[in-house]
Amino acid sequence: MKIAVPKERRAHERRVAATPETVKKFIALGCSVLVETGAGEASRITDDAYIAAGAQIESDLKTLLGDSDIILKVQRPLLAQDNLSGDGDVDELALFKRGAILLAMLSPYANTAAIAAYAAAGITAIALEFVPRISRAQSMDVLSSQSNLAGYRAVIEAINVYDRAMPMMMTAAGTIAPARVLVLGAGVAGLQAIATAKRLGAIVSATDVRAASKEQVESLGGKFVMVESEEVKQAETAGGYAKEMSDDYKRRQAELVAETLKKQDIVICTALIPGRKAPILINDDMVHSMRAGSVIVDLASEQGGNCTLTKPGEVIEINGVTIVGLFNIPSRLSADASVLYAKNLLHYLTPHVDTTTKNVNFNWQDEILTASALTHAGEIIHPAFKLKQEQ
Ligand code: NAI
Repeated sequence: MKIAVPKERRAHERRVAATPETVKKFIALGCSVLVETGAGEASRITDDAYIAAGAQIESDLKTLLGDSDIILKVQRPLLAQDNLSGDGDVDELALFKRGAILLAMLSPYANTAAIAAYAAAGITAIALEFVPRISRAQSMDVLSSQSNLAGYRAVIEAINVYDRAMPMMMTAAGTIAPARVLVLGAGVAGLQAIATAKRLGAIVSATDVRAASKEQVESLGGKFVMVESEEVKQAETAGGYAKEMSDDYKRRQAELVAETLKKQDIVICTALIPGRKAPILINDDMVHSMRAGSVIVDLASEQGGNCTLTKPGEVIEINGVTIVGLFNIPSRLSADASVLYAKNLLHYLTPHVDTTTKNVNFNWQDEILTASALTHAGEIIHPAFKLKQEQ
């Protein structure tokens, strides 16, 4: 089995899908690994480090992709239909051989047209975001590994533009009050943001629609604020994700957030609903009610944002309130993010490698595979998209 690790070409992407450590493990499984020249550079991994781990370095993308059975990527490949907006203006998918297996974060809901292109290219496209949240799959969970880092970094990004100190400081020259931090959405990113802000000495509160998150917030020393409603009992899907709430709940939540926001210095927004636009939790009036110098970091910006004034991809200031809407926060910690992401991919593939024949032998009864495979043998096979295609 030949594994290819191309350089990421999409904007804002500094991560890489394999590290010398995972290269060694794949080679031990009987695979050979080809890494594109400079693929690890932005994650502080040199070509020499890959060579020392047993990989071959390949400078020609056509040779690298065209000859490989498995392609490991962070972002979805560039396609002709994207108007080739990435570095190098190359249609990466067109270079894959039929039958190749692609593992990446494919953002399927936001890129449904690309799914048809994967089927037409005859590849097995695996969307790692769809790995189910079951115990057996924890080590393959890219959403967790990357969101955890994003939650941490969101607090650091906030501090970077906050003109005050985070912890309480009692000095001879006077006392500095601790910052008040509100975290909207207490999933993986939110919980790490709470832990980070707490460690830095802030007074932290958080909210979520899932009642289960109350205990987790409190165990990290945060105060949990939540709309009291019967509806929260049904707010969580079987997979542990949030559902879209009723208009009445949204109105009551808006009142609660508006009241809480006035007293906050920093707000970290992490609320997401899979397959939908991010819920709006902060409107224009709420931003205007915040004191000058406050900061909002909107981690949901790529899904439209939790704040109406977020400018996706930008850092802006409105009436003294800085709103950080930067894209791809995990990529700002590329070295660590790549280490964890590469391990997720290794854990995903390892059970499927037959070490005797040295081939990937997919077990199509495996719920992790069936939940995450979008296309196979020329067909869209994922139930969420197969139905849409047939309708
Ligand atoms: P996510 O990234 O989809 O959403 C982030 C958070 O926003 C969630 O906690 C969600 O409930 C919250 N949210 C959505 N709409 C909201 C609204 N209107 N107001 C306030 N908050 C809102 O979620 P994430 O972080 O991926 O976690 C999803 C679930 O998966 C959680 O239940 C988590 O505990 C679970 N999980 C399970 C793992 C396992 O292996 N068993 C591993 C990681 C997460």
